[in-house]
Amino acid sequence: MGRSSKDKRDIYYRLAKEEGWRARSAFKLLQLDHEFNLFTGVHRAVDLCAAPGSWSQVLSRKLRGKEEQQEVKIVAVDLQAMAPLPGVTQIQGDITKVSTAQEIIRHFEGHPADLVVCDGAPDVTGLHDVDEYIQAQLLLAALNITTHVLKPEGTFVAKIFRGKDVTLLYSQLKIFFSSVTCSKPRSSRNSSIEAFVVCQNYSPPAGYVPNMSNPLLDHSYDVDFNQLEGPNRVIVPFLACGDLSAFDADRTYPLQLAEGKEYQYTPPTQPPIHPPYQQACQLRRDNQLSKEEAPSVCPSQDQDQDQTGTSS
Ligand SMILES: C[S@@+](CC[C@H](N)C(=O)[O-])C[C@H]1O[C@@H](n2cnc3c(N)ncnc32)[C@H](O)[C@@H]1O
Repeated sequence: MGRSSKDKRDIYYRLAKEEGWRARSAFKLLQLDHEFNLFTGVHRAVDLCAAPGSWSQVLSRKLRGKEEQQEVKIVAVDLQAMAPLPGVTQIQGDITKVSTAQEIIRHFEGHPADLVVCDGAPDVTGLHDVDEYIQAQLLLAALNITTHVLKPEGTFVAKIFRGKDVTLLYSQLKIFFSSVTCSKPRSSRNSSIEAFVVCQNYSPPAGYVPNMSNPLLDHSYDVDFNQLEGPNRVIVPFLACGDLSAFDADRTYPLQLAEGKEYQYTPPTQPPIHPPYQQACQLRRDNQLSKEEAPSVCPSQDQDQDQTGTSS
């Protein structure tokens, strides 16, 4: 398979390289903004789980614009190191830690954020129940840190897996936001259970004190939220977003997209700087991996930069 084959199979991967985005995920945030107008009036934004940085690129380009507005502050947090971006302050840290929340607030000089976005994903195991559970934990961690840093009436956008406990997550989000919508951008594959919750109008319950515990998913809750009926049922609207004439993430496209426009291969915009698989590749090269059962190919620098492994 040539290096252009992925360009054929994944139109958003190809467009991301051609438009200079670090990952195809950029289109998801752009399409969500198109539907929900996320960026109007935003001066302070937080990008949780930001590496390799395509959502931070979108924030930087949309909020700072061409004039590089000085009053705009953007903070990006990730466990992994990320190549620098103009106007984006990076914190290499864990979103489950209160110290990370304090660092964000320090950067905003005590002011709360207008917008928090989170495209967080754990390393997927391929065991769907485990992956859904960990993703849900990460979403709740993102919600927790958001309650420390978001201003009243602010907006929170986060990746969610629409698994069997999704109603439980919606019910948690509804406690803090008067409007919660689940949305699926065109650039997110239909075959993936990934979607995004767009939570607007942050209004925590009176007397709520932000903390970092996730009591709902520790098996100590005894309400089956899926069984609730009538007015007690948690119903969250579902909205497909992105122009319906936009490219379909599940389709294969020819390399020549338009008559007279010749295809040229574009390398990735920013290869990962310290990918988690680096050590494994080195061990393999040094012949230090104990077993060689399945033939596996170490990902090259050309691989999809959506580091989830799921390429949703
Ligand atoms: C899908 S990638 C994010 C892609 C990013 N939105 C972009 O557009 O480039 C998911 C990221 O979540 C990060 N992550 C997972 N758990 C985290 C945690 N507890 N704290 C901070 N980052 C975390 C991973 O390191 C990974 O970089």
